[in-house]
Amino acid sequence: MAGGGLSASAPAAGVEFEAKITPIVIISCIMAATGGLMFGYDVGVSGGVTAMPDFLEKFFPVVYRKTQEDLDSNYCKYDNQGLQLFTSSLYLAGLTATFFASYTTRVLGRRLTMLIAGIFFIVGVVLNAGAQDLAMLIIGRILLGCGVGFANQAVPLFLSEIAPTRIRGGLNILFQLNVTIGILFANLVNYGTAKIKGGWGWRLSLGLAGIPALLLTIGALFVVDTPNSLIERGRLEQGKAVLRKIRGTDNIEPEYLELVEASRIAKEVKHPFRNLLKRRNRPQLIIAVALQIFQQFTGINAIMFYAPVLFDTLGFGSDASLYSTVITGAVNVVSTMVSIYSVDKLGRRVLLLEAGIQMFLSQIVMAIILGIKVTDNSNDLHSAYAIAVVIMICTFISAFAWSWGPLGWLIPSETFPLETRSAGQSVTVCVNLLFTFVIAQAFLSMLCHLKYGIFIFFSGWVLIMSFFVLFLLPETKNIPIEEMTERVWKRHWLWKRFMDDYDYEDVLPPINDIEAKKNGHTNGFDPASQL
Ligand code: BGC
Repeated sequence: MAGGGLSASAPAAGVEFEAKITPIVIISCIMAATGGLMFGYDVGVSGGVTAMPDFLEKFFPVVYRKTQEDLDSNYCKYDNQGLQLFTSSLYLAGLTATFFASYTTRVLGRRLTMLIAGIFFIVGVVLNAGAQDLAMLIIGRILLGCGVGFANQAVPLFLSEIAPTRIRGGLNILFQLNVTIGILFANLVNYGTAKIKGGWGWRLSLGLAGIPALLLTIGALFVVDTPNSLIERGRLEQGKAVLRKIRGTDNIEPEYLELVEASRIAKEVKHPFRNLLKRRNRPQLIIAVALQIFQQFTGINAIMFYAPVLFDTLGFGSDASLYSTVITGAVNVVSTMVSIYSVDKLGRRVLLLEAGIQMFLSQIVMAIILGIKVTDNSNDLHSAYAIAVVIMICTFISAFAWSWGPLGWLIPSETFPLETRSAGQSVTVCVNLLFTFVIAQAFLSMLCHLKYGIFIFFSGWVLIMSFFVLFLLPETKNIPIEEMTERVWKRHWLWKRFMDDYDYEDVLPPINDIEAKKNGHTNGFDPASQL
């Protein structure tokens, strides 16, 4: 019913509005997704930089001495709170910034929020690359964190709203693809700059983040805002014009009406965060929060941030370790492409469940090899075992990259109704960064205490999250974004129980009801059908 069924290009059962895949949509999405590039670069760059002797000597002399004297156990030599704070300050800043970003995405729009992110990034990069002391370094990292908070808030929403339904998953994953390209780019840069004599290699590593920062800023100047956001801010005509342009057709009335209706409901919400706590928003909220916690408890960032340190711990030596990191970075990028291709065909659940099994097995095998082969002070993991560990890390990363990596961002951005979308996304980003911070801050200490057991710890979590997906995560593939309540939540065996408290003052008869009926279109929130 909802969705009109008017589209000539609609697939089975007429679930989609008419929409061509227009160049403007593709270009806008590519530009917006550069926000992910910046996030990925920041995630990837810190591991390599914190393994550089010149950097350690300048900012963390205590750690530097430890790595030189080689007194500590392999698992413990990088265990230093200050060093971990360098990595994790970015995430703390990001999770705070996202609440401001929620306001700006709603009131100023998705596009301007991306522009603000770009500006934060540029200033942060300048401070980082020019850092004279620890304070400058950390303040730079904090500004980059603010950029991450704003970009990760606005970009996934932008992508999910601008994309035609049938390729929404794929286009949204461009964000994650950029995250992985950013990580790989950072690894390659680190590989090169680690060789620079003269003590400024780390400056170059941190400074080259300026490239993605500029790309995002320029991108944000050129893209159009989403029709959803324009309409939400009362610019109906402009929203309609943009919708016509991005869909490449004049037959946009049904979708336009659905957006107007969604925005009418959204406008009645005076306190978005309080509204988020209402019973009927509980399912989306639980899923968004759980997805973020689970994404981080796969253990991905333990590997991403500290891969060079980890490989060093395994006795690879500092050159080989960066080399291995580049391999894992490439696997990450390529596997994300698999996800872009398959997410709207196979669906979200299949990818998550398959990956659960693959990640679980990889971690168990890794734990066994490390448990048997790496003793505290040995510096040579036999090369066959070392290769086996790298292969397991690769199978783990590939599974993550076509499942929890992209879907952790995609699913929350597409399941909240417009009325709670910005607030919901902000909670999503906040929880993601909070747990990224927890892992970043705790990993080196956990490695020091749990040793190889750390992989068993994460594999237990992978098991739990897979059961969560099996029973509690509904499929959202091919459902128009403003129709999730009707077609997903109200039909799920458990979550439908939360949908019975729709208060009717929020869902007054649609102002455009008559017009909607004329167009053969029924709104997603048709109150009559709920009586
Ligand atoms: C996660 C990051 C992670 C990256 C790895 C993202 O989806 O949010 O924390 O570092 O994937 O590719």
